[in-house]
Amino acid sequence: MNLSKISFLFFLLTNIASYVVAYDSQEKHQIYIITFKVPDNVDISNPEAAETWHKSILSSIVPDDTVSRHIYSYNKVVNGFAAKLTEEEVQAMQKYPGCTSIIPAGKPLQQATTHTPHLLHLNGLKGLWKRTKNMGEGIIIGILDSGITPGHPSFDDKGMAPPPAKWKGHCDFNSTICNKKIIGAKSLLKVGAEEKKHIPPIDEGGHGTHVASTAAGGFVKNIEVAGIAMGKASGVAPRAHLAIYRVCDPSGCAPPDILKGFEEAINDGCDVISISIKGSQMAFHLDPISLGGFYALLNGIFVSVGAANDGPMPGTIANDAPWLLTVAASTTDRQIRSTVKLGNGLQLNGHSLYQSKNWTSKMLPLVYVTGDGPNVNASKCLNGTLDKKMIRGKIVLCDHGIIAAPLKNIIVQEAGGAGTIIATSEKGSYSTQPSFVDDPDFLPTSHVSYVDGMKIKDYILSTKQPVATFLFEGVVHRNPFSPSIASFSSRGPSLLSPRILKPDITGPGVSILAAVPPVLVPPKIIGEDKSKAFYFLSGTSMSTPHLSGIAALVKKEHPDWSPSAIKSAIMTTADVTDIDGKPIVDHKHNPADVFDMGAGQVNPNKALDPGLVYDLKYEDYIPYLCGLGYKDEEVNNILMPAPSVQCAKVKAISEEQLNYPSIGISFQGKNTTEITINRTVTNVGKTKKATYKAAIILPMGMSAEVVPSTMTFTNLNEKKIFKIVFQRPGNSGGSSLGFGELKWISGRYSVRSPIAIIGN
Ligand SMILES: *[C@@H]1O[C@H](CO)[C@@H](O)[C@H](O)[C@H]1NC(C)=O
Ligand SMILES: *[C@@H]1O[C@H](CO)[C@@H](O)[C@H](O)[C@H]1NC(C)=O
Ligand SMILES: *[C@@H]1O[C@H](CO)[C@@H](O)[C@H](O)[C@H]1NC(C)=O
Ligand SMILES: *[C@@H]1O[C@H](CO)[C@@H](O)[C@H](O)[C@H]1NC(C)=O
Ligand SMILES: *[C@@H]1O[C@H](CO)[C@@H](O)[C@H](O)[C@H]1NC(C)=O
Ligand SMILES: *[C@@H]1O[C@H](CO)[C@@H](O)[C@H](O)[C@H]1NC(C)=O
Repeated sequence: MNLSKISFLFFLLTNIASYVVAYDSQEKHQIYIITFKVPDNVDISNPEAAETWHKSILSSIVPDDTVSRHIYSYNKVVNGFAAKLTEEEVQAMQKYPGCTSIIPAGKPLQQATTHTPHLLHLNGLKGLWKRTKNMGEGIIIGILDSGITPGHPSFDDKGMAPPPAKWKGHCDFNSTICNKKIIGAKSLLKVGAEEKKHIPPIDEGGHGTHVASTAAGGFVKNIEVAGIAMGKASGVAPRAHLAIYRVCDPSGCAPPDILKGFEEAINDGCDVISISIKGSQMAFHLDPISLGGFYALLNGIFVSVGAANDGPMPGTIANDAPWLLTVAASTTDRQIRSTVKLGNGLQLNGHSLYQSKNWTSKMLPLVYVTGDGPNVNASKCLNGTLDKKMIRGKIVLCDHGIIAAPLKNIIVQEAGGAGTIIATSEKGSYSTQPSFVDDPDFLPTSHVSYVDGMKIKDYILSTKQPVATFLFEGVVHRNPFSPSIASFSSRGPSLLSPRILKPDITGPGVSILAAVPPVLVPPKIIGEDKSKAFYFLSGTSMSTPHLSGIAALVKKEHPDWSPSAIKSAIMTTADVTDIDGKPIVDHKHNPADVFDMGAGQVNPNKALDPGLVYDLKYEDYIPYLCGLGYKDEEVNNILMPAPSVQCAKVKAISEEQLNYPSIGISFQGKNTTEITINRTVTNVGKTKKATYKAAIILPMGMSAEVVPSTMTFTNLNEKKIFKIVFQRPGNSGGSSLGFGELKWISGRYSVRSPIAIIGN
């Protein structure tokens, strides 16, 4: 077993502490991104001229040390540079004419499939790939992450066409690694460790490889994990090209590197950018992902980002700018099942990668050690707390917490136990997924939900001689309550713009099997063919590249669609019911709402043909940003390199008026019983002529009128404006909180927008 390597993978996903130390050790210097108004006398569209000008500014503040302090110049994504400065130098910089913001790079940001293409109905006879002959051919997906594993079979270029002529990027690996699949690869780690600055973007932690292969990995047959045959693997857009930008190392992802990653990916000619990194949750003009995302929008590039893994509390969402697609995570219907059978006959479906071949299913004594004082840690099976005499030959129930699950497994084994049941924490509720890395187990084990853990404890208390066994059932499909929203998936509302309903969409993000570096997979887990290293990871990091792949498929089908049109198509066609036709639930099996799942679970087949789209041009965000109260220089920082504006000359709008595919309104603080919003839809259906009828569902006590309630289109790309007049019974807010939906229905099209009436 190779626990240190698995811990490393785990560390990457969950821990950033060491990077903070590295930052602080930079003596008295800290790293900042400093932005400026676009000057009249310098042509900053020329990168060399911009850099010369930026360095002249820096040298006026630090005359002796300009070269070593300068990190990057940016001339597109913002006008400015990243540099190391002391506090006094920051104060001097603030006074420099035209300086608009000094953003401390601060802490680094965290990085937040054989089966999923099937789950999403991409393959198979009626699947999208076959029906539309579309596997993302010619589309370039840029991945900003921790790099890639050179030579992994997921990145073979068999069947791939050469990159399109517009591609301007380059590949820092040698020619045996870069191919028609991996067409670009760069390291942008100028803020990270010195020794990594000049090496090719090799993925150390596994995260970047997993994400890239989920979006656009090619087909790999006969995948095996822990002796379990998993079939054929591929990404969502298996014929799309990949461009790799390494902006993360095992300690995290530094904002200046991320910002540079955007500038490079966009200038190189990517069509879609996939970011599985949690944003800073700072205002839009200070966050590298929202700044970079706006430059992408200006270039017609689609950006999909993770909602973060800080759920299930409300308001934990990151990456929530309206020009980004913010992705939540759901469970899949696959379970590698290890059922716990109790002496009273109860069978509880748990999960384990260790599927023992010689387990006899004989009932064994079952123990759970709990109590006060010194015993409080025994319930969590910490090392040294288990009494060997008491647990020898028995199955031990351990609560989740303090140490990683695989360690508990080893501790029980060392103490002579015969098997382990690990119960998820209360926060996890119905989840059987103990952490962001599917734990390799070394002893017969079952990871059960919190709810099932409680049932086992009740049983133990109810009888003098509790017994249990495991039934190893292998890979099981059609697990009920699939998809359901993962407990860890960050929840809305957005704190920066609550009436833009976030997250936008949900994709599969729990126990996702995709490529990883072979060296990270423990020998017991890796299959016969060691080059085919695949492993299960969970997170919004994993759901995000699914959406990037789907965006690539939509882009291939509709090359002229804007990023907003693609986003609308994905959102208005999403599923709100599970595999059994019941409403999608959250981790507690309560119905999921728009702040859990956005518009719902992505349905790629339908996203290709949405009927109508809610489109947005970049100019539409100007009145929105002015309306949110951003100052001119802040708005212009975001708009860069588009022409600057003055909010005083703009007719500002309030958030709910942005032509978004979902609808959020609030009566709070308003002395009114009525709110009217406008939306514009564009006919992108299969026929010129189409008549749509409105159907609206509202929270109790609310009423609304859609005007007009019927729209008849006579041309493709024709636009129509409608308004919705919302009415509440009185001026007191309470009763009007809740959720609803608007559907425009025409034949096979049902264009759905979730509605939320919110408190602020
Ligand atoms: C290319 O790089 C890989 C990995 O660094 C190495 O194994 C291989 O020998 C290199 N090939 C050539 C032709 O230099
Ligand atoms: C099952 O096999 C494993 C390893 O092959 C061995 O360590 C274990 O003792 C066996 N268990 C039983 C119940 O025979
Ligand atoms: C339980 O374990 C934690 C972490 O190892 C430790 O800090 C704490 O003191 C332990 N509690 C008891 C009662 O031993
Ligand atoms: C548990 O503690 C013992 C004694 O200190 C040590 O030998 C063993 O390696 C520890 N086990 C684990 C899994 O940490
Ligand atoms: C609310 O509006 C009504 C009618 O416009 C007015 O009579 C009332 O004074 C207003 N209340 C407050 C608190 O402003
Ligand atoms: C909504 O659209 C109508 C008709 O174009 C226009 O008169 C009205 O000002 C718009 N309302 C808002 C809030 O933008």
